[in-house]
Amino acid sequence: MTERAPSRWMTLSGILLLGATFFVALIVLRAQSQSTNQDSTANNAVQLVVQGRQIFRFDTFGDHAFWGDTLKLHQAIEGAGLGGVGPGVSPKMALTVGLKVDVDALPQNLFEQLQHGSINLNDPAVTVALLKLNAVVGVTGVFDSSGALKSMGIQCALCHSTVDNSQIALCAGVIQPNPGTGCIGHRLDGWPNRDLNVGGIIALAPDLEAVASLLNTTQANVRSVLNTWGPGKFDAELFLDGKAANPQQITDGVTTGTNVPGAVLIPPAFGLGGVNLHTWTGWGSVPHWNAFVATLEMHGQGRFWDPRLNDATQFPIAAAHGFGDLRLPNGQYISPDDDMVTSKLQALQFYQLAIPSPQPPAGSFDSAAAARGDALFSGKAKCNNCHVEPLWSDSGWNLHAPSEVCIDSFQANRAPDHRYRTSPIGDLFTHTKGGFYHDGRFSALTNVVDHYNTCLSLGLNASEKSDLIQYLLSLTFGPTGTEKRSGQRSGK
Ligand code: HEC
Ligand code: HEC
Repeated sequence: MTERAPSRWMTLSGILLLGATFFVALIVLRAQSQSTNQDSTANNAVQLVVQGRQIFRFDTFGDHAFWGDTLKLHQAIEGAGLGGVGPGVSPKMALTVGLKVDVDALPQNLFEQLQHGSINLNDPAVTVALLKLNAVVGVTGVFDSSGALKSMGIQCALCHSTVDNSQIALCAGVIQPNPGTGCIGHRLDGWPNRDLNVGGIIALAPDLEAVASLLNTTQANVRSVLNTWGPGKFDAELFLDGKAANPQQITDGVTTGTNVPGAVLIPPAFGLGGVNLHTWTGWGSVPHWNAFVATLEMHGQGRFWDPRLNDATQFPIAAAHGFGDLRLPNGQYISPDDDMVTSKLQALQFYQLAIPSPQPPAGSFDSAAAARGDALFSGKAKCNNCHVEPLWSDSGWNLHAPSEVCIDSFQANRAPDHRYRTSPIGDLFTHTKGGFYHDGRFSALTNVVDHYNTCLSLGLNASEKSDLIQYLLSLTFGPTGTEKRSGQRSGK
């Protein structure tokens, strides 16, 4: 008995212990498998961001065949002295037209020479050397085995990146950059390059026959249109409808200009998460527009399908050239193995959605005034009717008729929905240069607020307008933005 009792006790406790161990093991295993799942999702996200950043910064999608081989833009960079044509593009000229240099791509000794002013910034050979170092943001040179520049391509980063102002002294006398940015510095992905004179750069290309014949005009005409765009602007629709200028521009019901260039301001490529339609006129989603730009504008090699472009009345050029269903000259679709765009759209989109919202510099707005402006924004000023916090665009189908914001319909009518997209207005401090609204028709936020005051009959007085502007300057994207913090400060 005495022998059996403990053994029965042991059996019982053994079973209990075993059960408990099993139970604990089950919990641990479950937790482990959950965390493994979570890790694989997080790892996947990190991998996509890394891939997407690489594509955004460095991928040309094979577009050197257009910019170099066809337009021969690289020859204009080299200049006659290096076997190209014309005077060449010196680093000084490159910086003047808004190209940016990535300081992290420069070897230390070169950077020091730059700082000491011992590099000849008037020599196109230095520009070619910078291209070889992959230091010109958004532009890639193609070099042959002898080291000569034989072609060049462009990237998303050309227009949607700039550099910070850490080396602002190096801009002295060359260019007055957009606030917060510089000429030579660390990359700022997603920031619109409002210093970049895209039209001026393309106009340098020695051979614009491809563009001229597409638009059924002369190269001289193409050049003069390109030279009307000015810094920070590009006209993606020109190659669809051939309309170079807005015949009349109406602001506050008054005609304020004729034949205003049809080019629009380069928008940021951050703050796009949760926003439904993209571009000023709401062409489509981020991947739609990325495929559009990579093929039709950058001239990379890939598929693109958008039958809305077959409307010969709205898009005569696009319809005549089959842009709504891109195929090779032989009528075949490009083979998946040669498609350099489609496989990159996922990571590219993911990256753009992940770029964090930059924070407005300290002291760039008055927080007490911004807190008062907060109340006006969603109250008397009715801004939140469309710019819905915290997307700052409509939640849902984010388009409005031109009459709702009291402007002309020229640009809206160049897009399939004939409307304007409610601009996601976070981080306005990153793009004050070039003005506001699609074509920069309002030179400052004061003009924007005055416009709404009239358009929506808001009856705002001078101090209310100024509070609203301080609030606009405080807006960022996402729950971690300054907007939330300014809300807390106001005691909400
Ligand atoms: C030559 C300059 C240029 C290049 C290169 C360029 N873009 Fe753009 N991007 C623009 C302009 C201008 C617009 C506005 C177009 C419009 O509204 O008609 C725009 C619009 C966008 C938008 C919409 C933003 C918004 O607020 O909805 C995204 C996203 C975008 N581009 C991403 C890209 C990506 C990704 C690439 C590379 C595949 C790229 N862009 C290449 C100039 C450029
Ligand atoms: C009916 C909808 C609507 C209302 C209400 C509205 N907006 Fe807008 N907002 C838009 C649209 C659409 C655009 C884009 C216009 C364009 O593409 O030119 C825009 C553009 C802007 C821009 C320019 C952004 C940029 O990047 O250039 C600012 C700033 C702005 N709105 C501020 C405001 C303020 C402040 C209010 C309130 C006084 C307000 N909006 C009310 C629809 C609206």
